[in-house]
Amino acid sequence: MKPAPKTYAVKSFGCQMNVYDGDRMAELMAAQGLTQADPTEADLVVLNTCHIRERATEKVYSDIGRLRKEALRDIGRAPMIAVAGCVAQAEGAEIVRRAKVDVVVGPQAYHNLPELVARAARGESALDTDMPVDMKFGHLPARRRVPPSAFLTVQEGCDKFCTYCVVPYTRGAEVSRGWDQIVDEAKALVDAGARELTLLGQNVNAWSDDTRGLHDLIAALAEIPALARIRYTTSHPNDMTQGLIDAHGDIEKLMPFLHLPVQSGSDRVLQAMNRSHSRDSYLRILDRVRARRPDIALSGDFIVGFPGETDADFEETLSLVDAVGYAQAYSFKYSPRPGTPAATMAEQIPEAVMDERLQRLQAALNRDQAAFNAATVGRTCQLLLERPGKLPGQLIGKSPWLQSVHLVSDAAIGDLVEVTLAEAGANSMLGTLAG
Ligand code: 5AD
Ligand code: SF4
Repeated sequence: MKPAPKTYAVKSFGCQMNVYDGDRMAELMAAQGLTQADPTEADLVVLNTCHIRERATEKVYSDIGRLRKEALRDIGRAPMIAVAGCVAQAEGAEIVRRAKVDVVVGPQAYHNLPELVARAARGESALDTDMPVDMKFGHLPARRRVPPSAFLTVQEGCDKFCTYCVVPYTRGAEVSRGWDQIVDEAKALVDAGARELTLLGQNVNAWSDDTRGLHDLIAALAEIPALARIRYTTSHPNDMTQGLIDAHGDIEKLMPFLHLPVQSGSDRVLQAMNRSHSRDSYLRILDRVRARRPDIALSGDFIVGFPGETDADFEETLSLVDAVGYAQAYSFKYSPRPGTPAATMAEQIPEAVMDERLQRLQAALNRDQAAFNAATVGRTCQLLLERPGKLPGQLIGKSPWLQSVHLVSDAAIGDLVEVTLAEAGANSMLGTLAG
């Protein structure tokens, strides 16, 4: 038994959906009257975990051990520990057995966190990895103060079953939140200070309510007067409808940025990955988007070293990168996930080969990012100021193309200001006030 916690900390790992979930868990705890504290001092620590790559599970176990040790050293007692997120979903009761944590709660069940914490305080078992059909969102408290750029989950789960990926198992089947619920949350976020909303989903562009698609939702949100910008992530090529492509040309508040993972440039590998699109169909989608929005900044995800990937396959990935000219992209070494089909495929690729391919790919992507940034020098655009910079008077904001831009100005966080992009760095830009 542990006393009912009075303070809490939430540590989120992994994707933006986890950041969103972590924020909502924090709001839940605050609504229960708990106050936020440092993870080494809090009575309750929620570890909101990610399972997507590389020894994620082992990392959670060592995090739990370290957390306990630091708390014992600093405050003389171990906190109540709740493991949430995708490792909780995948490991379930095993975490309780192995690490003696107090609460285990999956990504579709965290609205029950207060009750689980209460149960744990009574010394009862507190594990919930259900995936109820009625989504958790209806059970979460209202939004508090939010940043200028806020996340809004509109869709969860995935039915695509790429052969390397755990998401269909940890997050469950594709579910779309209801239209009214989303619009209400968007309005509440804007009322609380958001100027930009990023609509989130594992397959966000699969959002649908039978009659309407993501582009209809974006069009409706664009009607909220104080909302200046809309983004969405992450998308699957096969759900890139003409309506959504057209929205990039028609809806001014929809920012010129598209994150569209491709994973590989080789059709053979794409097929083994069960991606259900080809190199060519992917490139054609980008052509159609560019036709509607010529200045669109493109982003993607890549995996190197998928089982059976040959040098020739990898060269095709490099040539796809050359063909696209990404503004930025993420690239990963393939990591076998227990329970996924690829984990038991023959011809797993040696680590050294993966390392070498990743280095070459990242060099190409960095080169293209630098080229993209350099090509935007001289453009005048709006900047949404999101946080203070390191230097006095410096602010950091995002350009429409999702570049981080540093600006010296007496404007306030949350302001949209007109800037000229004056200088390009490796990962950010310098801006000057326009006019
Ligand atoms: N190994 C490496 N990268 C992976 N991703 C998903 N599963 C794996 C895995 N098993 C990457 C994909 C996906 C991104 C979110 O993580 O590129 O788009
Ligand atoms: Fe994973 Fe593929 Fe679904 Fe993306 S589309 S979440 S990579 S299974």
